[in-house]
Amino acid sequence: MSSRIRCPLLATRLASADHAAGFIQPGMTVGMSGFTGAGYPKQVPQALAARIAAAHERGERFGIRMLTGASTAPELDGVLARTGGIDFRLPYQSDPELRERINRGQIDYMDIHLGHVAQFARSGFFGKIDVAVIEVAASLPDGRLVPSTSVGNNATWLELADTVILEVNADQPAALEGMHDIASCPAPPHGVPIPLTTPGQRIGEPYLQVDPAKVVAVVETRGPDRLTPFAAPDDTSRRIAGHLVEFFRHEVARGRLPANLLPLQSGVGNIANAVLEGLREGGFEQLTAYTEVIQDAMLGLVRDGLITTASATALSLSPAGVADFVAHIDHYRQRIVLRPQEISNHAELIRRLGCLALNGMVEADIYGNVNSTHVAGTRIINGIGGSGDFARNSFIGCFMTPSTAKGGAVSTIVPMVSHVDHTEHDVSVVVTEQGLADLRGLSPRQRAHAIIGHCAHPDFRPLLQDYVDRAWVHSKALHTPHLLPEALSWHQRLLDTGSMRP
Ligand code: COA
Repeated sequence: MSSRIRCPLLATRLASADHAAGFIQPGMTVGMSGFTGAGYPKQVPQALAARIAAAHERGERFGIRMLTGASTAPELDGVLARTGGIDFRLPYQSDPELRERINRGQIDYMDIHLGHVAQFARSGFFGKIDVAVIEVAASLPDGRLVPSTSVGNNATWLELADTVILEVNADQPAALEGMHDIASCPAPPHGVPIPLTTPGQRIGEPYLQVDPAKVVAVVETRGPDRLTPFAAPDDTSRRIAGHLVEFFRHEVARGRLPANLLPLQSGVGNIANAVLEGLREGGFEQLTAYTEVIQDAMLGLVRDGLITTASATALSLSPAGVADFVAHIDHYRQRIVLRPQEISNHAELIRRLGCLALNGMVEADIYGNVNSTHVAGTRIINGIGGSGDFARNSFIGCFMTPSTAKGGAVSTIVPMVSHVDHTEHDVSVVVTEQGLADLRGLSPRQRAHAIIGHCAHPDFRPLLQDYVDRAWVHSKALHTPHLLPEALSWHQRLLDTGSMRP
């Protein structure tokens, strides 16, 4: 028996990836592990893609409905999208092949708050879950499973699926054992308070449960997660971080935040990573994090003791980040807790802990509505991820972006966002390298003044001011003044000319 598969019953189910993929039939709904490129199955999806390609060559239609934790990797989303084997996909994604096919209209994609997925699934909103394909680090003799580098929706897929395929990845550190805290939330009307009051608290057990009778195949694999290097912090991200540090210091001085702040939530992407790195300059100590992913910068803050405890559902590290994580895993196991995403992103807990939410965005409008997902209203980039879970329920919800994109052709502050992920009611702070707009307690017209004055790029600021001035005269009503025929004209100009500049 392999040292990673210590359950005699599961050892009898050892199979090849090809054999395991044979349990997945056209039209099935499949729940896969994987969250921001961590802990996704490495081999069964590729074997499935080969089966699908062969079926398509024979002229047979073969597509599945695929549910995950969040984004995965080329060996899962990429290869299945390329074969035309995904009919439906949720929730967050970031694979170029998958994104392209979604935007071509070939794949139905449901972009849903990550904290809602498990409850929706458990309540039957996605129909029956036929198969779960889950990467784990090991199985215990009694059949419990040591989770991998992400937890995501794995407990839910294992609970709901008729049939389970396990991938046991011997390259995931065995010392992950003990880092996880698996608990679940019963669906209404059986909900109870979740007994978690500090980010590092453990309320479940470190293992996933599965009914061994449902496990039809156990595949031994090797291979790393998708490890994406982060862009080095540049002047723009340093300035964004600088504005946030100044803001947090001000809030501490006013007595509205404790000296060690409140639990940080830091979103995905380069800007979020760079801004967290910039928080080092703030002189804050004894910080905590209650977040969704741990990227390199947060890991570094944990390593250096600036963050004492970090709770998340996944790691999302670069090759250097993984090397550091593995080298110091005993240190990190004392300080990092990985939880199911229905807990890491739960509204009740985010509100109770009072998270400071720091998320990237595509654009904000002058009234504080935020678009996190779509270019020019129609082309999805990734998805809302957990930004909505955190923004609405946080103590202070901050959105950050450079003030321009695409080499200065695009203003990320626009008259009206072309797609709304976060309404003005969920957005407390907008920050660009130009400055920070604190929107708390402001009316729409006051917000426009703050956002244009503090956040817009100087090249676009006069155009935005001109828009607001004319809207003040010509808008039919003046609570939220707009010139409707013009409100989305900047995006139309971008589509027509490649630039928002007149
Ligand atoms: N118009 C057009 N394109 C834009 C744009 C805009 N207003 N703003 C950003 N982009 C493009 C960038 O040019 C870049 O494209 P490229 O890869 O072709 O160069 C891409 O979007 C990513 O932008 P980048 O500046 O590298 O930022 P990022 O890595 O920090 O990611 C988001 C920004 C918005 C894409 C990312 O934060 C995201 O997906 N957010 C939604 C999910 C989320 O917030 N999750 C966190 C919850 S825990």
